Amino acid sequence: MKDVSIREVEKFWDENPLFSGESNFDPGTLEFFNDHERVYIEDVFAGHFNKEEYIPKQAAGNRVLDLGCGIGFWSATILESYPAVDLYVADLTRTALDMTKKRLNIMGFDASFSKQNAESMSYDDAFFDHVNCQGVIHHTPNTQACVAEIARVLKSGGTASISVYYRNIFLRNWRFLTPIGKLLNRFGGGLKGRGRQNIFAQTDVDEITKLYDGDKNPLGKSYNKEMILEMVKPYFHVNDVFLNFFPARSLPFKIPHSLHRFLSRKQGFMIHLSLKKS
Ligand SMILES: C[S@@+](CC[C@H](N)C(=O)[O-])C[C@H]1O[C@@H](n2cnc3c(N)ncnc32)[C@H](O)[C@@H]1O
Repeated sequence: MKDVSIREVEKFWDENPLFSGESNFDPGTLEFFNDHERVYIEDVFAGHFNKEEYIPKQAAGNRVLDLGCGIGFWSATILESYPAVDLYVADLTRTALDMTKKRLNIMGFDASFSKQNAESMSYDDAFFDHVNCQGVIHHTPNTQACVAEIARVLKSGGTASISVYYRNIFLRNWRFLTPIGKLLNRFGGGLKGRGRQNIFAQTDVDEITKLYDGDKNPLGKSYNKEMILEMVKPYFHVNDVFLNFFPARSLPFKIPHSLHRFLSRKQGFMIHLSLKKS
């Protein structure tokens, strides 16, 4: 994998915020955010979004950081679940912060917004009770530094909810599955917008994880369970680990709901960790 700078990562996400090119609605409108929520829950989480698995009670009424906010799905969810949370919203890009601010404003919520690089944040030590960081640290050059930073800004006993791309059975065996990938591609499989229509035609597995976010995305790493546990072990006690995220909308055919849910839990493309600072 070639060396990528944080500036390249920032430029990409500034120009291509999450879900851009995918919705028929104008970015930043209520309809756009509703469409994003629907796709996230129905398609990516197989219609089963148990908020408590991601946002522990520890967050309620406390100081929480949504790190790498994207277009604000998690910030909105945190405030919907626990309106008394003192929410801090951070991202590497201005575009993401602006989009999240719009999303929260539409919903009548507010938060403290700050441009931050997760590899080196400006927050004080032991400042937060909970950090939410979904689908972020696999996009940045120094993922291990992000884990150390999340631990640093958490109070002792504070919790974190982190997810990264997971090398599931499909990615692990992609070299044998490329003929099936080519067939899926031929029959219209792929993702809308951001140059992702040929995602199934890729032969290099690292290209697939990068391409999920767009053909100009400079970085998207995937991990197996041992690798990610090794990264968090020095700082955290692991409360729970599970898989999620199966974007069935990329397939050229519909799959039954039960199969979608099964694939999400057993062969999801993300691994989620519920952590407690040790
Ligand atoms: C795939 S999106 C995920 C957004 C959101 N967490 C979600 O799950 O909907 C990745 C986000 O991480 C941000 N990001 C990437 N590297 C980052 C870094 N080093 N520090 C902070 N944010 C970063 C990007 O700007 C982008 O908004």
